[in-house]
Amino acid sequence: MKATESERRGGIGRSVRCAMLACMAVLAAVQARAESAVPDPATVRQSRGREHLLTKAYLPADFDQEVFDDLWTTWEEPLRSRAEQAAVEERRRMAMERYGLVPHPNDPSRSMQYVVDAAGRWTMNCLACHQGQVGGVAIPGVPNSNYALETLTEEVRQVKVRQRKAFSHMDVGALLLPLGTTNGTTNAVIFGVALMRHRAPDLAIVQRPPRFDLVHHDMDAPAWWHYARRKSLYADGFAPQGHRMLMQFLLVKENGPDKFREWEDEFREIESWIESLEPPPWPRSIDRDLAGEGAVVFADHCGSCHGSYGPGGSYPDRIIPIDEVGTDRVRLDSLTAKERGELNASWFGHFGEDGAGMTDRESPTGYVAPPLDGVWATAPYLHNGSVPTLWHLLHPDQRPVVWRRTPTGYDGDRVGLEVDELSEMPPGRLLPSVRRSHFDTRKPGKSAAGHDFPDQLTEVEKAAVLEYLKTL
Ligand code: HEC
Ligand code: HEC
Repeated sequence: MKATESERRGGIGRSVRCAMLACMAVLAAVQARAESAVPDPATVRQSRGREHLLTKAYLPADFDQEVFDDLWTTWEEPLRSRAEQAAVEERRRMAMERYGLVPHPNDPSRSMQYVVDAAGRWTMNCLACHQGQVGGVAIPGVPNSNYALETLTEEVRQVKVRQRKAFSHMDVGALLLPLGTTNGTTNAVIFGVALMRHRAPDLAIVQRPPRFDLVHHDMDAPAWWHYARRKSLYADGFAPQGHRMLMQFLLVKENGPDKFREWEDEFREIESWIESLEPPPWPRSIDRDLAGEGAVVFADHCGSCHGSYGPGGSYPDRIIPIDEVGTDRVRLDSLTAKERGELNASWFGHFGEDGAGMTDRESPTGYVAPPLDGVWATAPYLHNGSVPTLWHLLHPDQRPVVWRRTPTGYDGDRVGLEVDELSEMPPGRLLPSVRRSHFDTRKPGKSAAGHDFPDQLTEVEKAAVLEYLKTL
């Protein structure tokens, strides 16, 4: 935005020096140009940012079309036989559903999560985790709550062995660390730590043995439209915002330090796009009176942490101590002060000049109370994605021990994922793909406990707050 204003000011500054008539002609021409649909530079940058995400491969390729088209051969029955009899297009659709891929708007046989080049090579992009669907609709910036990265990688490996093809960085990485034990959540934070181990602060590559003491845990990606509201990054707010921090995902050894510098401008544009995203409005009807009552309860019981919404709203970006919020603490404890400090003191954090107080950055005491704009669309809830609906968030003692979502179902009453609730995992030995479609809150890092603040509300107040949350 700043660049746009100064460019305009520069233009007007020159024009006042010209003679009156000429000056008016220039202004008229400028106006006409503006009206004839010349988009403003900020919009151009944003759309370029989106375009980079959808079209540019920043990593080595994961697999090729031939591998993708053969994935069905690894599936369990009866799915496998159904795929065998289906036409290629239908088989691709089935594969997309199985792995939580969102059809590309221009070509539904491809997915938004992978850039496919002319040679048919598929390369994962940021949208793998950051572009999902709600009730079958792809809303820009909504996290991908269906992504089955571990299952996809496992099945890709099986097909590659059969097709005698080389393993990619992801195939090898998956042998060293888990990618995600439940569909829709990933071990993304630890990927970052594992990759940063092989870099100097200026991103030069250093050879070190891999670490085996990492605390693996799965995280639910946050909505990208929060970026414009937040001042820091991540669940514990330990990193400053900025286009460089967004580039951590590119730390594979194939990308030397020069690549990061080369791609900085593209990531400035990607950041502009992320910053421009708006929360989606609730698509169904709202009981305005009930929501109005909910607004009052929210201001009394929730606003001090989550802020206020609507015109003149403000968001405090507060970190709440872990003992007070009481949610799963594995994410908080999984990073050491040294790891947080090193990231902040590296090229990503402009060698420490980007950060505010380094002490807060190195040793956060808990989790950020996130903005709740568009919260209806961002299920599941809490940083680890352990709570399937807002109703469950408001009823801490009724959160399911194990839950399994339907592929694309949306629960408009309880506001969130449509789920089956179980008190146990199904008996017997489960196929890995089936196990990963269940969220087991008893596993490490997956607890749905805590955030008991709604316990202070009556049932009537909870119903009102639930209605109000739809309006944010
Ligand atoms: C494998 C999944 C995955 C991929 C791929 C991925 N992210 Fe993320 N991203 C996450 C998770 C999980 C978090 C939350 C981490 C946390 O809070 O500790 C996150 C957090 C973020 C945030 C912080 C949002 C906030 O409000 O704190 C931004 C911005 C972001 N990612 C941008 C990107 C960009 C840009 C890329 C591509 C270069 C990318 N991500 C690739 C999973 C992913
Ligand atoms: C003392 C501060 C505090 C209060 C009071 C509070 N919250 Fe929270 N809230 C948090 C924190 C911190 C988190 C993040 C916890 C985590 O992810 O582990 C959170 C998470 C949430 C989430 C999940 C957001 C997401 O995207 O996953 C919702 C929804 C929410 N709160 C709603 C409420 C409502 C409604 C109230 C009032 C009844 C409330 N909160 C009261 C601090 C608070």
